[in-house]
Amino acid sequence: MSLLLDNCLVMLGKRLMPRQVLLEKGKIAEIAELDEKLPAMKRIDCENKILLPGLIDAHVHFRVPGAEHKEDWHTGSRAAVAGGITTVIDMPNNKPSCTTQQLLDEKRIAAQRDSLCNFAFHFGASNDNLQALMKVEGAVSFKVFMGSSTGNLLVTDAGKLKQIFSVAKEREKVVAVHAEDETVIQENTKSARELGWDSAKYHSKIRSNEAEEKAIERALLLQKEIGNRLHICHVSTKEGLQLIKDAKAAGQAVTCEATPHHLFLDDSATEELGNFAKMNPSLKSKEDVAALWRGIADGTIDLIATDHAPHRKKEKEKPYWEAPSGVPGCETMLPLLLDAVNKEKISLQKVAELCCRNPAKLYGLNGKGEMRKGVDADLVLIDLEKEITIKSGSLYTKCNWSPFSTWKLKGAVEKTFVGGKEIRLE
Ligand code: DOR
Ligand code: ZN
Ligand code: ZN
Repeated sequence: MSLLLDNCLVMLGKRLMPRQVLLEKGKIAEIAELDEKLPAMKRIDCENKILLPGLIDAHVHFRVPGAEHKEDWHTGSRAAVAGGITTVIDMPNNKPSCTTQQLLDEKRIAAQRDSLCNFAFHFGASNDNLQALMKVEGAVSFKVFMGSSTGNLLVTDAGKLKQIFSVAKEREKVVAVHAEDETVIQENTKSARELGWDSAKYHSKIRSNEAEEKAIERALLLQKEIGNRLHICHVSTKEGLQLIKDAKAAGQAVTCEATPHHLFLDDSATEELGNFAKMNPSLKSKEDVAALWRGIADGTIDLIATDHAPHRKKEKEKPYWEAPSGVPGCETMLPLLLDAVNKEKISLQKVAELCCRNPAKLYGLNGKGEMRKGVDADLVLIDLEKEITIKSGSLYTKCNWSPFSTWKLKGAVEKTFVGGKEIRLE
């Protein structure tokens, strides 16, 4: 089957150019000017809308195995496709944690069976799986939780961390860290309980700027010593970002990501949303948010990824201390970013760099994240003019709520293509 996407605008260099794109055998077979005659079995008129590489969401929690009531590969991948995401990289904090080759292989089988989009996997580094780290095949990174979060993957011991970083260096793997310092979190939790704090309003006082800064500092020091590649997930503070900026300037092999919720919400959102804005790292101040946007502009931030971490509404409605941390994000990332493009907060080119090209490069996903002849035909057609309203209750993610519910955005996903085929939901 060949498919011709006619009359689309394609970003070539810095400019959008009218082109037709021929998809064949799952690849982009040709990108041609409109007057050329390209033979195809099927043609779609894209009506001058913009065709981008499909997004690569380098940070999702699709909950298989062990928490399928929150999400599974079917529902998670539908949310992804609805959001213009054609590849997801899934996190290992499952039940049980994905820390053995066998568990990774089982997860791959579940994804192959149920996923509508492409997938890759982060592998969990724990206190006792060095042997598995030395041999594991089929994972793009070693994920380390320096601070506790959903699941039980926590590594705080300096010696263990050093060993994990060393194996990563040897195996040329990225160490992707959740950087929050467990000691700081524990101390803050203790005082918060003594003070009787019991609402999401205080979450950023517990999961504080200091917690992130300390962990990033530690991870960077260790990276400097060992020389492995280090990726800081979901950076949320100006202090953490500054440390990363300085380390990059000094030539350290470090990259980092920001999430849509840390870019579009600040800690005041907890007043209205309560636990529906409880996540780790926490939402931070407006000043931190402004620093993240500057980090995007100046190139300190390499990727935007969702940290799609769905939990049931019922679970979120529990009292603060019992409610799990995390928010869904796959369906809303691209519309939020397109709205920001319309508001001139970010360029479309930058969106493609941070959501397509850079994640593919960082995690070695060859043939993905770019728009040229010969690469995988994973694409998203967008409409920059279309206005949409995000609505809890009409989403594809199993949890079916969003912290951005009721937001009106200008910019929408029209069609998503995976492996050369349009994926229609319904
Ligand atoms: O808020 C979060 N939720 N942060 C994490 O680190 C984990 C995630 C989850 O899996 O729920
Ligand atoms: Zn995390
Ligand atoms: Zn996460």
